[in-house]
Amino acid sequence: MSGDTLSFAEAVRARHSVRAFLPDPLSPAQIRSVLEDARTAPSNCNTQPWNIHIVSGRQRDLLSKELLRAEAAGELSGDFTFDQNEYFGAYAQCSRHQVQTRNDALGIARSDREARRMADRRNFEFYGAPHVAMLFAPVFGDGVRVGGDIGMYAQTFLLSLAARGLGGIPQTVLGLYADTVRDVLNVPDDLKLFFGISFGHEDRSSRDNSYRLGRVPAQESVIAHDTPGLFDSRQAPNPPLQSPDDTKGRAS
Ligand SMILES: Cc1cc2nc3c(=O)[nH]c(=O)nc-3n(C[C@H](O)[C@H](O)[C@H](O)COP(=O)(O)O)c2cc1C
Repeated sequence: MSGDTLSFAEAVRARHSVRAFLPDPLSPAQIRSVLEDARTAPSNCNTQPWNIHIVSGRQRDLLSKELLRAEAAGELSGDFTFDQNEYFGAYAQCSRHQVQTRNDALGIARSDREARRMADRRNFEFYGAPHVAMLFAPVFGDGVRVGGDIGMYAQTFLLSLAARGLGGIPQTVLGLYADTVRDVLNVPDDLKLFFGISFGHEDRSSRDNSYRLGRVPAQESVIAHDTPGLFDSRQAPNPPLQSPDDTKGRAS
């Protein structure tokens, strides 16, 4: 801890996705500090393509209402595709594990579709957060490079929150209703919505925040080339890549 922020190592481990917030708004100075940190993120050719809308107060309430309405009406309008059925093998297993962990923490039975939908709809209430940041950018080419830039910005934003004892959660689900968000915030069509980040003070007493998700060990996703002793001197050189059907591991 230095001053009123955590060290990098503390912040990176303290960060987690917060799914219940206290209603108390942050001060403008607190939000500004996070934005000052986030804008230091690297980007392809230093293009800094991020175009961020911070939404609070009555506009936040209106946006939430419109998103809940659009979800109920099935008015999907994402700028990018997102289909969890496209995950395969070990990735699908990680995804299922994440949903199962949440359902267990909330006491939701796998068969209870309505309870699962209600839990998912909390996304559109920003999990009770007083603020949401909507991350827009222009798209160049197939958009992958800009997506990387937005990811860099978002993680810097999230780590800045964590370092200051605050919480946030990135939400692709909000990006699935891009036209609704653009309409409410008066954003031109050529800015595409990657995702939103709800943020504020974590409600530490909520069971929505009672669990943490693990990660696969580094050596399961890192292959060492001529870097002896990186993990274990007995590690075989270049272990074979997992086939799409290999679901072992990756679900800790
Ligand atoms: C780009 C991105 C989009 C995400 N979208 C959502 C979302 O729409 N709703 C949600 O509840 N969680 C969302 N998450 C949170 C992930 O589920 C979470 O990061 C992951 O399960 C790991 O948990 P942790 O962040 O607590 O470490 C998203 C995460 C990322 C990085």
